[in-house]
Amino acid sequence: MKSSSSSSSSSSSHRKCPFSSYLITFSFIIFVAILYGEDFSCILRQHFLQSQQLEDFEQQQQQNIPKPKEKDEVVPFAVGETARGCNIFEGEWVYDEERRPQYEEKECPYIQPQLTCLVHGRPDTGYQHWRWQPHGCSLPSFNATLMLEMLRGKRMMFVGDSLNRGQYVSLICLLHRIIPESAKSMETFDSLTVFKAKDYNASIEFYWAPFLVESNSDNAVIHRVADRIVRTGSINKHAQHWKGVDILVFNSYLWWMTGMKMKILRGSFEGDMKEILEMETEDAYRLALKRMVKWVEKNIDTHKNRVFFTSMSPTHTTSKEWGGEPDGNCYNQTTPIKDPTYWGSSSSKGIMQVIKEVFSKAKVPITLINITQLSEYRKDAHTQIYKKQWSPLTPEQLANPKSYADCVHWCLPGLQDTWNELLYAKLFFP
Ligand SMILES: *[C@@H]1O[C@H](CO)[C@@H](O)[C@H](O)[C@H]1NC(C)=O
Ligand SMILES: *[C@@H]1O[C@H](CO)[C@@H](O)[C@H](O)[C@H]1NC(C)=O
Ligand SMILES: *[C@@H]1O[C@H](CO)[C@@H](O)[C@H](O)[C@H]1NC(C)=O
Ligand SMILES: *[C@@H]1O[C@H](CO)[C@@H](O)[C@H](O)[C@H]1NC(C)=O
Repeated sequence: MKSSSSSSSSSSSHRKCPFSSYLITFSFIIFVAILYGEDFSCILRQHFLQSQQLEDFEQQQQQNIPKPKEKDEVVPFAVGETARGCNIFEGEWVYDEERRPQYEEKECPYIQPQLTCLVHGRPDTGYQHWRWQPHGCSLPSFNATLMLEMLRGKRMMFVGDSLNRGQYVSLICLLHRIIPESAKSMETFDSLTVFKAKDYNASIEFYWAPFLVESNSDNAVIHRVADRIVRTGSINKHAQHWKGVDILVFNSYLWWMTGMKMKILRGSFEGDMKEILEMETEDAYRLALKRMVKWVEKNIDTHKNRVFFTSMSPTHTTSKEWGGEPDGNCYNQTTPIKDPTYWGSSSSKGIMQVIKEVFSKAKVPITLINITQLSEYRKDAHTQIYKKQWSPLTPEQLANPKSYADCVHWCLPGLQDTWNELLYAKLFFP
């Protein structure tokens, strides 16, 4: 009904004013083509071929055909399942000195000095002892032997920003203890860091791509760019390094939060033909996420591979938000927030909505690791001032420690070990 009425109205407008409507369509195609940085003539050719297919697809969507249940499908890497109906991301933090942490800061040499809080003088250790307890079930306990066995002959890769790097390192810390010194290695090549467990022929890797798509912040070392520009349609420069990976874990959020509109580049960073347009952050984020999903749809074998996406990592820069002192932040915070409904201003609900919307339309399963709410509670878990500093501190900073507290990143061991427990649960017990 709907589609026939819309097509008749469009054909009548064609009759009235064929030229201008053609122009509008044409300029829209150019706009999209430039935005996506794809082969332009190819898009032009395919546009007319695809529009019919697209309409069919949309009609099917409208008929609300139920998707086949996940349970009927073979999920690669599954060895068991989580209790039906249990949302492992809904629960509470339980103080558990006996079972947490799962490793000690000093026995994991892979933690970058920006995340080793104790060695940089953090006086309290409570942040290490919280265990996540879902309301409806218990998380499977993390078994490093099982995980390494499952990764035998495989590649697993985290792709994203420094928060994903933190989760990557946390996973290495959870695994490395059972591997003898001579049978493991960690090396960095530009944007790619590779941990190898030789006896398992397994590699666990991290690839720096803070926007997933191409951007001017892609240098793995020098990327503190204030004026960020992204190319939302362009992913292959990065994605060529993800091809053939068995388990992918993406994230991207922090770098989008500039507080301003996003700058989108049409054309390439190298050429002279540069045009930059501005776009609402959520719209730009949607384009990048869709580009990532499109790549996944084309390159992932759902019978062999798994793809995960970790949701927004919250920050705690304003203590007023949780009823703290008027001008404080995460500095000197030693306990989690108790209010189960707490949601600070740092995690955009709009972005969460975009994630939901884009993934619900994906043609291949992408498993969300929804860490946002449970991390919102953890104002105590940031590195604060207890980390290696990029540059020497000024006397003014030293006199006022909260002025240089890092309320973005997380101490290890700590919160991000839980993110990996959740990843472990979704990977092996979906
Ligand atoms: C961990 O997994 C291995 C390999 O599947 C298994 O042999 C072992 O019993 C498990 N350990 C625990 C504590 O469950
Ligand atoms: C080691 O793993 C890689 C994939 O990471 C695979 O291509 C290769 O065949 C494996 N080698 C052996 C000897 O199993
Ligand atoms: C840290 O918090 C405690 C209360 O929890 C307070 O007594 C102390 O003055 C605070 N320290 C600083 C440096 O703000
Ligand atoms: C993630 O969890 C939060 C809180 O439970 C929820 O509001 C949000 O909708 C979830 N996100 C997605 C994409 O399902």
